[in-house]
Amino acid sequence: MWNFVEAAVRDVFRAYNFQEIRTPIFEATELFARGVGEETDIVSKEMYTWEDRGRAESDKGQSLTLRPEATAGIVRAYIEHKLGDRGLNKLYCIGPMFRRERPQKGRYRQFYQIDAEIIGPASAGSESPARDAEILEMLATLLDRLGIRDWNLELNSVGTPNDRAAFNEALRKALDPVKDKMCGDCQRRAVTNPLRVFDCKVPEDQPIIETLPRITQFLSEDSREHFEAVQEILKAVGVPFRINDRLVRGLDYYTRTAFEFTHGALGAQNAILGGGRYDGLSEALGGPAAPGIGFAIGEDRLVMSLKETAEGVLRKPDAYVAPMAGMNAAAARLARELRRHDLVVELGDDTFRLKKSFEAATKVGAKYILIVGENEVTADVFSLKNLATGEQVSVPRRELAARIRA
Ligand code: HAM
Repeated sequence: MWNFVEAAVRDVFRAYNFQEIRTPIFEATELFARGVGEETDIVSKEMYTWEDRGRAESDKGQSLTLRPEATAGIVRAYIEHKLGDRGLNKLYCIGPMFRRERPQKGRYRQFYQIDAEIIGPASAGSESPARDAEILEMLATLLDRLGIRDWNLELNSVGTPNDRAAFNEALRKALDPVKDKMCGDCQRRAVTNPLRVFDCKVPEDQPIIETLPRITQFLSEDSREHFEAVQEILKAVGVPFRINDRLVRGLDYYTRTAFEFTHGALGAQNAILGGGRYDGLSEALGGPAAPGIGFAIGEDRLVMSLKETAEGVLRKPDAYVAPMAGMNAAAARLARELRRHDLVVELGDDTFRLKKSFEAATKVGAKYILIVGENEVTADVFSLKNLATGEQVSVPRRELAARIRA
């Protein structure tokens, strides 16, 4: 399943000209603190962080962290290695991420992300709503390709930092008289970073959160136009979406477009992927202006939702080659020939009785069983039995591969 997903990912991303990047599993803690944001749940409570013992005096006590997400590392690499100068501005990465969360179905402390990013100078069009729509259309293509049908795309704009300053002010005002009735986290957020109140999952807090102002009312003309342009392209290419004005995403780097894809079969942890624009991240990490947009798919969750919808993804053996007593060498030769014709072959052992070979062939789900006995080898003709129908035919050796494939 995982291989099936990753093969489809590589294939689809290739068509959009993405290149693979592999970033380190751990980086300086500061990168995530500055990139993702000190006040986010990820940085404030979920990171696996330790102090390096160091080899040299200079790196003793350096704080290191297992990557909780991939965007900060990719943007760091983009800046450090000037990837933009080499035309590398569409990058993807597949690998493990780490967050100290409470494990449950679909939520793990080590989980896998498939992450893709488009980054570059504004002069290269990286700020264009065409990029947002391209990313979203690529995701729709991927999910369709994987056979996942009942996904929902939830879309919002979280505005520019300027838009958000006004929004934060309004939120603070609205929270002030009610925050005492909210959970401890929200009381803290109401003061330090009120936007994060929307991340709250405490059921008792939800009625209060429902009454709060929404970012949509605070978007500047530019942000509004950008958001409308994204929607216009999505409609033109036929990607369905729903506006969700509560969607603010749990990371601080987002600007303007933010989105999540959800899937019904997943239950409470129903976000199969999330992403958005981060026009200021490169500068926040000490790099040049390089607006960007990207997403990360939770691969564990994607595989789970696939199991609910797709059958027959795995390639079962085309044939089980069953050697009779003393025929291991002849069977190995035959299996080698068939495998060279790109068939999937499971090879038995000449100590197995015929009954055991049939049981083994059925257990691995082989389509055919091929008996290799002395008579067959002498005549160079083999009996090929279809395990599902019971139909059996004699086939000359040189026709075997074509016959099995047909
Ligand atoms: P995120 O929403 O934190 O975004 O994570 C993206 C996806 O990773 C989630 O929708 C979920 O499917 C999966 N995920 C997150 N935490 C867990 C977990 N503990 N167990 C299993 N799956 C999990 C980001 O990480 C951003 N870096 C995405 C992005 C890329 N934005 C722009 N570019």
